[in-house]
Amino acid sequence: MMMDNTNWQLRLDQVIPGGAHTYSKGRDVFPGNAPAVLSRGRGCYVWDVEHHRYLDFGMGLKSVVLGYSNRKVDAAVRKATRLGSNLSRPSLTELLAAEELIQLVPGAEMVKFAKNGSNVTTAAIKIARAATSRKLVAVPKEQPFFSFDDWFIGTTGAPSGVPEEHSQLTRVFSYGDINSLRKLINESENQFAAVLMEPAVDFIKCSRDHRICLDFCLTERLEATRQYLLEVRKLCSDKGIVLIFDEMRTGFRWHIGGAQALFNVTPDLSTFGKAIANGYSVSALLGVRSLMQLGSTNIPGTRRTFLLSSTHGAEISSLAAFRQTWREIEKNDVVKGLWEYGVELGAMLSDSVQQSGFRDYISIAGPPVALTLDFFPSEFWTEQELKTKFFSKLVEHQILMPTITHSASHGRKELEKLKTAINTVLEDLGRNVDSSDYFKGQNHLLSPVFRDTN
Ligand SMILES: Cc1ncc(COP(=O)(O)O)c(C=O)c1O
Repeated sequence: MMMDNTNWQLRLDQVIPGGAHTYSKGRDVFPGNAPAVLSRGRGCYVWDVEHHRYLDFGMGLKSVVLGYSNRKVDAAVRKATRLGSNLSRPSLTELLAAEELIQLVPGAEMVKFAKNGSNVTTAAIKIARAATSRKLVAVPKEQPFFSFDDWFIGTTGAPSGVPEEHSQLTRVFSYGDINSLRKLINESENQFAAVLMEPAVDFIKCSRDHRICLDFCLTERLEATRQYLLEVRKLCSDKGIVLIFDEMRTGFRWHIGGAQALFNVTPDLSTFGKAIANGYSVSALLGVRSLMQLGSTNIPGTRRTFLLSSTHGAEISSLAAFRQTWREIEKNDVVKGLWEYGVELGAMLSDSVQQSGFRDYISIAGPPVALTLDFFPSEFWTEQELKTKFFSKLVEHQILMPTITHSASHGRKELEKLKTAINTVLEDLGRNVDSSDYFKGQNHLLSPVFRDTN
């Protein structure tokens, strides 16, 4: 029995533009039969308001790495609420959290906390501009999101409200192709302040051109990615450009110290958020002292860069969540577990697709900690139609999969549940494989979040 969504969606749309406080939780990203509102989560399950339970592979937009309502993290938060949520001077929790995060991330000597990832990537750009007295910023065109602020949104498919003068200062290159970045930088010699990128979302392509590279060529792809990052590092150093790694999706998942620790390539600045407090609101800008101290106030005579100054930036309970989250990750070897589980998950998905009639239309890609499903058109369906049908069928099996994000609380039982569901979904789709009506008749198709027109 699915939830009746209509009334809930109407209520959401009535009071919240986009129906959610991030577009990535809105109707664009979920099929029409997915619950419009959720009431709670525990482990890797979420419940709708009518008490139906769903197995979740979204995990709060990747922010929940241990599992929803983690007992240890929540206990630390409850204890911290007795300290007062926000004091008039820096709290002890704030100092300890800063010292601890710096220990975890290579090359980081100072940190500023904030609440949203977007704020810290924007702050990183600000420091880079202040340090170099240059304006331009380079970002990879394959990477979907860095900030809700103008400098980035102006470059997406939804630039409404952003002055062109702002967007023109952000230029794009191709991730994985050092010549593309070199060419972009050379076209505007001495004008680039920063290269901002996720160090790795997917790996550099494997030389054997596998669609899915799990254990068998992981080492080769890790090395190719590392070599590329080293080239980017060198190019930025040679050209006096600040290198910024956005570790929002990689931090505490690929490695506790971020992908920079995994690849052993150190940026000048980096930004963390999402998983670092298991879903509580903490983001962080980290970097070398020489850059970060542009925002300092204790060096007489230096020009001050007004860097991240926010009332709620160091809220005690969220920072207590961060302090407990990293301890749980280390104690339980969570990152190793995520890699191992991802190998099994990827192999299972890949086997199921390969054994179905959809092997030419659905593919599993990406490294085990960041798997993705890609869909391809046929004469009977578009990519969006196949994708929507697939995910709405999964919802019928009470599985939500806006992305393939697993957590420390996903176990064997969940792998089996997903396998049974995926095989049944693929059989169902297979019975309708040559029926356009089956795929065309859907009244709500999944759509890209960045688009000019609704
Ligand atoms: C790579 C990356 N950077 C920055 C952000 C922005 O983070 P936030 O939504 O916390 O502002 C996101 C959010 O999805 C992200 O994926």
